[in-house]
Amino acid sequence: MTDNNTKYIYIETYGCQMNFSDSEIVSSIMTENDYSITQKIDNADIIFINTCSIRDNAEQRVRKRLIQLNALKKKNPDLKIGILGCMAERLKSKLLEEEQSVDVIVGPDAYRDLPKLMLAVEDGQRAINVILSAEETYGDISPVRLDKNKISAFISIMRGCQNYCAYCVVPYTRGKERSRNPETILAEAEQLFDEGYRELTLLGQNVNSYRWEKKIMGFPELLSRVAKINPLLRVRFATSHPKDISDKLIQTIVRHPNVCRSIHLPVQSGSNRMLDLMNRKYDREWYLERIAFIKKHIPDCGISTDIISGFCSETEADHQQTMSIMREVGYEYAFMFKYSERPDTLAAKKYKDDVPEVIKSKRLTEIIDLQQQLSLTANKKNIGSVVEVLVEGFSKKSQHQLSGRNSQNKVVVFPKENFNIGDYVNVKISNCTAATLIGKAV
Ligand code: 5AD
Ligand code: SF4
Repeated sequence: MTDNNTKYIYIETYGCQMNFSDSEIVSSIMTENDYSITQKIDNADIIFINTCSIRDNAEQRVRKRLIQLNALKKKNPDLKIGILGCMAERLKSKLLEEEQSVDVIVGPDAYRDLPKLMLAVEDGQRAINVILSAEETYGDISPVRLDKNKISAFISIMRGCQNYCAYCVVPYTRGKERSRNPETILAEAEQLFDEGYRELTLLGQNVNSYRWEKKIMGFPELLSRVAKINPLLRVRFATSHPKDISDKLIQTIVRHPNVCRSIHLPVQSGSNRMLDLMNRKYDREWYLERIAFIKKHIPDCGISTDIISGFCSETEADHQQTMSIMREVGYEYAFMFKYSERPDTLAAKKYKDDVPEVIKSKRLTEIIDLQQQLSLTANKKNIGSVVEVLVEGFSKKSQHQLSGRNSQNKVVVFPKENFNIGDYVNVKISNCTAATLIGKAV
C-alpha cells in the first residue's frame, strides 16, 4: 500500500473516448488534492471504475468486475471502491443498495465534488453525488494524460446530448448539451503540441452543434483555429450527427491539410421507417446527399459509421436497406451493434423490443461480414500508393515493425528501420488485410 500519507488511486475506464477523457479530468482533480494515480491495481487504496451504460452488456461487464473487486476488498478491508460515469448516473443510489462493496457513486458532472466525497468515505460513510449540470464543462481543468504513447490525445470540447435518439441512454446519463470555452480548448491544444503531441481528437457527443456565445464561434471556426496551431499537428474530431454536418465544415476540412480526411458519420440504419422510429431527424436520401457532398469535395475522405441491428419492429426488408446503404457508401470502418433496450429511453417507453435475439444476431453477423468485405476492398485500393503515417508505437506482433495511422485513420504497419514514435513517415503500401495496410518507408 502506501509508504506515506498519500492515497493511491487506480482508475479503470470502460466505454467511449469521452469516458477516457473524463478519467483524465478525474485524475487531475484528485492529484490536485494530494492523491496519487497508480497504474498498478495492487498498489491502490482506492479503485475508481468509470462506467458505460450504452448497452446492457457494458453494464454486465462492470457488474462482473465488481464481483472480483469485492473479493479484493475481503482481503484488504481498507480498500475503497468508487463507481463513476454513466452507470452511476443511471442507477444512482440503487447501485449503493445493490453493490455492497461500493463506497462512492459519482455522476459525470460531479467530479469536482470527488475530494469532498472521499473525505466522507475515509470517515467510513458511503457517499453519492449524481447531480447533472447545465454548465459544467471542466473547461478550466487541465487533464492528466493517461495515454501511453504521448503522441495522440483527446480534448473534450462539449458535453451532453439532447438529440434523444429513441434507443439512446446518453441524454439521461450525460445531461444537456453544453460547449466549452474555446480559449480553454485552444490553450490545452497548444500546450499538448508544445509537449510533443502530434494528433488531437476534438470530442463531443455531437461536435457539429458546438456553439460558443450565441454563434460567435461554431465548430468549423473552432476546428480551423485548432488546425492553425501548427501544420505538424493532426486534428481529428468525433462524433458528427448526419443532420448537422454542414457544407461549411466540409469546406473547412478542405482548407486545412492537417485536418484528417476521415469522418465518422453514424447512420444507424438504412431504412427510412427505422430512422424515423429512432428519432434520427434525417432520412436515407439526406444521408446519401451528405456523403455525396463529402466525396465531391474530399475525394480521399475515409468514412466510418455506427450501425444498430434489430431495432424495434425491424423487418428483413429494413435490414436489407441497411445492407444496401453500407454498399452504397462503401464504409472504411464500422462499429456494429445489436439493439439493446435501455430503461427509460423513448424506445423503451413507446416500442416493443420485438426482434428475436437469434434474428438480431443473424442480421448483425451479415452486417459484420459485409463490412469486412467493404474494409478489405477499401484497403486494397491503397496498394501501390504512398501514404503519410504518424507513428504511434510498435506493431502488436513485432518490435521491428512500427504502427501508426494515415490521414484516413487506417492502421499502417511497416519496418522500423531508423524511424521513431512521433515521426511522420511516407510509406508505400504493398499489401493489406481488412484491418491493416502493410508497407515500407520510401
Ligand atoms: N443499443 C445498441 N446500440 C446502441 N448505441 C447507442 N444506444 C444503443 C442501444 N441501446 C450505439 C449507436 C451509437 C453508438 C455510440 O452506440 O450506434 O452511435
Ligand atoms: Fe445518443 Fe443520439 Fe445523442 Fe448520439 S446523438 S449520444 S446516439 S442520443
